[in-house]
Amino acid sequence: MGIRGIWREVITAIEQSKEHYDRVNRYLSFGLDRVARTYAARRARIHVHSWILDLGIGPGTMVETLLTNTRNPRLVGLDYSAPLLRKAKRRFHGRGHLHLVRGAFETLPFKDHLFDAVFMAYALRDALDMAETLNQVKRVCKEKNGRLAVVDVGKPGNPVKRLLTSAYLLFAMPLIAKILTVRKFVGNPWRMIIPTYQALPTNEKIARMLSRRFEHLESRSYLFGGIVVFLARDPL
Ligand SMILES: C[S@@+](CC[C@H](N)C(=O)[O-])C[C@H]1O[C@@H](n2cnc3c(N)ncnc32)[C@H](O)[C@@H]1O
Repeated sequence: MGIRGIWREVITAIEQSKEHYDRVNRYLSFGLDRVARTYAARRARIHVHSWILDLGIGPGTMVETLLTNTRNPRLVGLDYSAPLLRKAKRRFHGRGHLHLVRGAFETLPFKDHLFDAVFMAYALRDALDMAETLNQVKRVCKEKNGRLAVVDVGKPGNPVKRLLTSAYLLFAMPLIAKILTVRKFVGNPWRMIIPTYQALPTNEKIARMLSRRFEHLESRSYLFGGIVVFLARDPL
């Protein structure tokens, strides 16, 4: 499984949604997308002047949270999409220390062990190759106390929770997004949640992938496991 065959379509859908992305996702998640981002930003315990990489910066939603919840971070935002990088550039013009880089998760254009922390908010799910992305994250994280925070929609292993979250994500969510953006788009960019969610490994499998690369792992979930935060780190 994977999203290789539809990856470009996924990126195009995110690009189309960029002016409505924050508002619609807030409604769709009952505000919990922001709660989960804030939890990750605070719990990652970022020291002043740390180097932070936001992978899949998109329209900049996670960077907004990081600027509010960390002290003078040195931020690098990477994305494959030039239109989304331009949107982030406009959003953060004159605010804080942010470098924008065009690149792919699977071939990160950075030296080894450069970053104190890497964040992937609602982005790991869209990777072309999740295992290679995590290898690259591990490579660019500092060897001592390097941290990865993943915030994403989740697929619980428990069958009852899985039924609840899948029903909402696969049926209700695209419909509500369509209603919220009626007359704004010809199609519905949020329809791409369906194939990306179908291809998503379970929360337990993602936890195993992270545990193979980092020594400590903790997690928190919201909405019966439909939103998850993983915090992985190596010791000091
Ligand atoms: C759903 S958006 C997440 C935006 C933002 N991080 C947030 O907090 O909501 C996912 C982003 O990851 C980018 N992306 C997906 N796969 C990528 C890849 N393999 N390499 C680089 N960027 C990728 C997309 O272009 C998109 O901007």
